[in-house]
Amino acid sequence: MTRAVTAPRPSALQTRASLAEYRPTWSQAIARVTRHEDYGAGHRWLDLEVSSGMTVPVAGQFVQLLLVAPSPVLLPRPMSIADAKLTRGRLTLSFLYAPVGTGTQSLAALGPGDAIELLGPLGRGYPLEESGTPVLIAGGRGVAPLLFAADALAAQSRPCVFLFGARTRELLVGLDDAKRRLSKSGSELHLATDDGSRGTRGNVLLLLERLRRTHPGPLVIHSCGPHRMLEAVARWALTHGRRAHLAMESVMACGTGVCRGCPMPRSEESRRRFDRERGTSPSLYGNQEYAMCCTEGPVFAAADLDWDRVE
Ligand SMILES: Cc1cc2nc3c(=O)[nH]c(=O)nc-3n(C[C@H](O)[C@H](O)[C@H](O)COP(=O)(O)OP(=O)(O)OC[C@H]3O[C@@H](n4cnc5c(N)ncnc54)[C@H](O)[C@@H]3O)c2cc1C
Ligand code: FES
Repeated sequence: MTRAVTAPRPSALQTRASLAEYRPTWSQAIARVTRHEDYGAGHRWLDLEVSSGMTVPVAGQFVQLLLVAPSPVLLPRPMSIADAKLTRGRLTLSFLYAPVGTGTQSLAALGPGDAIELLGPLGRGYPLEESGTPVLIAGGRGVAPLLFAADALAAQSRPCVFLFGARTRELLVGLDDAKRRLSKSGSELHLATDDGSRGTRGNVLLLLERLRRTHPGPLVIHSCGPHRMLEAVARWALTHGRRAHLAMESVMACGTGVCRGCPMPRSEESRRRFDRERGTSPSLYGNQEYAMCCTEGPVFAAADLDWDRVE
């Protein structure tokens, strides 16, 4: 049975706390599947209604999904939140995913009314409140948290520039959804495919380079996609003096900073800041060499990671 959630709807745009100020506010909850359907090119869209007072997430955060026993996998699976709606006191979280292995294939078998356990919202999301033109860059199914970000910006009537790249036109999964959300705020959408079957032939870096010429003002990049694409976006941003925030996916276990299973290599700058800021209990935040993706990420500023060591 679904109970009303107590969490108030926060501002659609979030404040990014510094490391010293940041405190996690996640909880564990049982959710019910309310919608689960094909979403094109082997992907699925999943809506879960959450049954307890979970904090309403912001774009870029994720949850850990744990299949209710008997489950073929022991550990939960992390999933970006593609949408969050609080309607008449009920929180619905949406996910866009590909069934790639045992965990996600088992998830794909759930039907309406089935129960699933979740932990969240976890991690730190995109700092959408930063001034400058927001540029959302999606690679393939990395589009999931950026659909949420596009809606959050539209709710603030803030137009953005959305760059969407994939290998082929079929893999521009969620394109119609992106168009619908962007139309609410008069935002721009630019597409690129490796094979040229839709939009510009090439990758999102070409679109970004073009944007630099047409939008001379400050650009703030928010991106999610394969790590190699994120690395290219980060290096571009660092070269051109633009701010960029990249949602990283690493293998995770606990999702809460305890197991040390999701290290991301810090840059020199991040190491120095970590030393300055860490409080009396640094355990959630990794160490000088490595940040934990689940607690300091999954969204990292380009300058905070050592891209020579990111895998
Ligand atoms: C913060 C975060 C957010 C994420 N958000 C999403 C999301 O929104 N949508 C989504 O589909 N996935 C997302 N993922 C990835 C998702 O958690 C993994 O796909 C999932 O853990 C795989 O679990 P599995 O049990 O199905 O596969 P496993 O049994 O763990 O792996 C089986 C095989 O699949 C391969 N595999 C694992 N992950 C991927 C992958 N992402 N792509 C291709 N092959 C893979 C493995 O290398 C292995 O060969 C996210 C991960 C993180 C860390
Ligand atoms: S997954 Fe356990 S510390 Fe990040």
